[in-house]
Amino acid sequence: MQVYLPLLLLLQVYLVVAYRSAQPAWNGVTPPGSIPDGRPFLPYYVPAGSVSVDDTSRSLIFSSHSWHNLSNPKYVDGTLHSTSTPGASMTYLFSGTGIQWFGTTGPSHGKTNVFLDGKQIGTSDGYAKNEAYQQRRWASDELVFGQHTLRIVNTDQGQGTTTDVDALVVRQTKAAKLGHKPDMILDASSHPSWTLVQRGVTGVSAMQLSVVSDNEAIIFDKVEHNPLTVNNHPAWGAVYNLETDHVRPLNVLSNSFCAGGTFLSNGTLISVGGNPVVTDKTSAADFGDLNGLQAVRLFTPCDDDKCDIFEDSDHIRMTSARWYVTVTRLDDGSALIMGGSKKGGWMNNATVNNPTFEFFPPKNIHGYNGLPIPSSFLKDTLNANLFPIAFTLPDGTVFVAANQDSMIYDWKKNEETRLPRFPNGVRVTYPMTGTAVLLPLAVANNYTPIIVVCGGSAVDDTKPGHELSSQAPASDQCVQMTLTPTGIAAGWEVDLMPTPRVMPDAVLLPDGKVVIVNGGRTGIAGYGNVKGQIGQSNADHPVFQPILYDPAKPLGQRFSSDGMPTSQIPRLYHSVATLVPSGDIMIAGSNPNLDVSNVEYQTEYRVEWLSPPYIAMARPSILGLPGNMLYRKEISVQVRLPPGTSNITISLMDLGFVTHAVHMNSRLVELVCTSSTLPTGSSDVTTLAIAGPPSSLIYPPGYGWLYVLADGVPSAGRRIMVGDGRAPPDDPGATVNLLDHTKGPTSKSEHDAQGG
Ligand SMILES: *[C@@H]1O[C@H](CO)[C@@H](O)[C@H](O)[C@H]1NC(C)=O
Ligand SMILES: *[C@@H]1O[C@H](CO)[C@@H](O)[C@H](O)[C@H]1NC(C)=O
Ligand SMILES: *[C@@H]1O[C@H](CO)[C@@H](O)[C@H](O)[C@H]1NC(C)=O
Ligand SMILES: *[C@@H]1O[C@H](CO)[C@@H](O)[C@H](O)[C@H]1NC(C)=O
Repeated sequence: MQVYLPLLLLLQVYLVVAYRSAQPAWNGVTPPGSIPDGRPFLPYYVPAGSVSVDDTSRSLIFSSHSWHNLSNPKYVDGTLHSTSTPGASMTYLFSGTGIQWFGTTGPSHGKTNVFLDGKQIGTSDGYAKNEAYQQRRWASDELVFGQHTLRIVNTDQGQGTTTDVDALVVRQTKAAKLGHKPDMILDASSHPSWTLVQRGVTGVSAMQLSVVSDNEAIIFDKVEHNPLTVNNHPAWGAVYNLETDHVRPLNVLSNSFCAGGTFLSNGTLISVGGNPVVTDKTSAADFGDLNGLQAVRLFTPCDDDKCDIFEDSDHIRMTSARWYVTVTRLDDGSALIMGGSKKGGWMNNATVNNPTFEFFPPKNIHGYNGLPIPSSFLKDTLNANLFPIAFTLPDGTVFVAANQDSMIYDWKKNEETRLPRFPNGVRVTYPMTGTAVLLPLAVANNYTPIIVVCGGSAVDDTKPGHELSSQAPASDQCVQMTLTPTGIAAGWEVDLMPTPRVMPDAVLLPDGKVVIVNGGRTGIAGYGNVKGQIGQSNADHPVFQPILYDPAKPLGQRFSSDGMPTSQIPRLYHSVATLVPSGDIMIAGSNPNLDVSNVEYQTEYRVEWLSPPYIAMARPSILGLPGNMLYRKEISVQVRLPPGTSNITISLMDLGFVTHAVHMNSRLVELVCTSSTLPTGSSDVTTLAIAGPPSSLIYPPGYGWLYVLADGVPSAGRRIMVGDGRAPPDDPGATVNLLDHTKGPTSKSEHDAQGG
């Protein structure tokens, strides 16, 4: 109980002061050791690990019955919501392990029913002879760490009819680490299979996700009433600890709604673009957020939990507004930023389209000197061309897909080369969102790039929303093309997924297979636009079962969901999935809503972990590796291999930055292992000599995760800096020109109720 000691001292000082006003006896459980014997209780108490949520918070949803907003210094934060109408309710969606409701008791108070997660768990009688403030009306502790809903409903039973809400206390920490697998090698003969567990909550809805270290992932959301708070307002960015499931809020300044992101060669992650301040429901007054349309947000991962987002739009920003922007890292370690729309909305159109490229840091290139470079591809692919799919290819050019088309962009020559159109009228980018992977770049085929694009929709992108439907079938098409002259001449090879999917997420595994999760069978991306919305969702019929795509198998036999577990959680618009260093797949998000909502399909904070069979097999482990790896130079990596290992392969992976089904930078490069002596005993430490990637074209400089595979079974991945970790080329003249010739964002609010 030592954590309470400083609090206890404070409490005692306060109690001495408060003693004279003789607070009424408190009516609930007390935190252990917090009340000295014989002393009156100090009613309102927020223990360490908990947060106070005032009744004025917009996260509390009051029914439209007559609730009155009262002020009195005796209330927590001076305010209270009160009602005398039977049936009046308050609903609150929270993440954590406990909830307490505080209000007043008195002669006019009656009975209130309390519901948790839809089930009535009790009734609180607020009647008392004398009025008493800041009373704990209900407490539920020891809840399973996760997302819960508290709902209180006034009744006409009891001696009076009044009920009220003064404040809520949410316990955010969890007592113990739940459900973590023991760190040991299991018996390989026990028929390992796929598993799916739900563990942890993200605190902010996981719209954008990127692993940033061996045990942390960064999450960006839009500005909305999330349960996780920072600086006394809801947070919209967080760092999730992959080992403890602890979530740390980030102080993001601008609205990161629908931004893209990438690491640079020096290990700093940039988040670019976003949304202006949205006045409907999430106005700046509640959050203090800034216009994020031109934002470049910097985040450099650290070991001490202190690093945060850096933003300074006067000096660091994009040339122009970009909402739904894609970004990819190039072979010089800089970022190519492409497309987007100049204002928030839904389907792109010619008025708001931003059909240009730019670089970060800005470059003086092709005569544009830091200013936007026009793209005819991004103009020709209207309307459904937001969040283009992009992969940096092993010759330094960039594959880009948007709507029904794709091309190769040679940024060094500023040349666009069109590729064959996707077959059968299928559109693959927002809001007809599909997903794509660059298959592993393997030594055996000399790092030949093969692109796979799955799902999307063939719905007409020229029709207004009210002529489209949440029930329109999605596409089951999954196409593949090898990006060589012969492969391009052969065109897209068509395969079919067993289930159609819009908004799927394709996650590349260290063994070269691909897991597809999330998405729905009907409708399209976005919210509030089409006929037959479910809540606000433009899509319906969530797909609950993941599917495995094995590119090594022949056409027609690549998909399998054998032994795949089924989820209970719909993951539609604003869902994400990524491989994490352990080799598990982290699945989070889903929020087809303008603001936090608990109607179907609700704002989702629960995380699921999909574990491939290799997680439970005898796995190799990496015991030691250097901090960085240079091109073509050998490094020594200490490993422990399972007994009998006969074949070692190495996967260097960029785990990517995922949002809206676009896995920016996701990449697997096979490295050559030159060591030949294999161990005999299981406790032997083997030193592998591993050659760095052949060039920065094959793996752009920046972080990667190294996985050692023993006979196809991967170790946990360890982060390594590929290249020398230097910053990308900097052209101060281009930055000055950009700042001189472009306007920064205005902080003025813009109305943007729609879409997203
Ligand atoms: C309730 O009153 C507080 C304090 O006067 C005010 O800040 C808040 O906006 C009011 N809320 C509503 C819903 O009227
Ligand atoms: C283009 O899109 C913007 C943003 O969604 C919207 O406000 C505007 O009405 C659209 N214009 C046309 C011509 O559809
Ligand atoms: C080694 O394992 C990889 C991946 O499982 C496989 O593709 C390759 O053929 C194997 N090589 C040998 C020599 O067995
Ligand atoms: C990495 O490079 C970028 C672009 O030059 C720069 O803004 C950032 O501060 C650098 N990060 C570190 C940690 O130096």
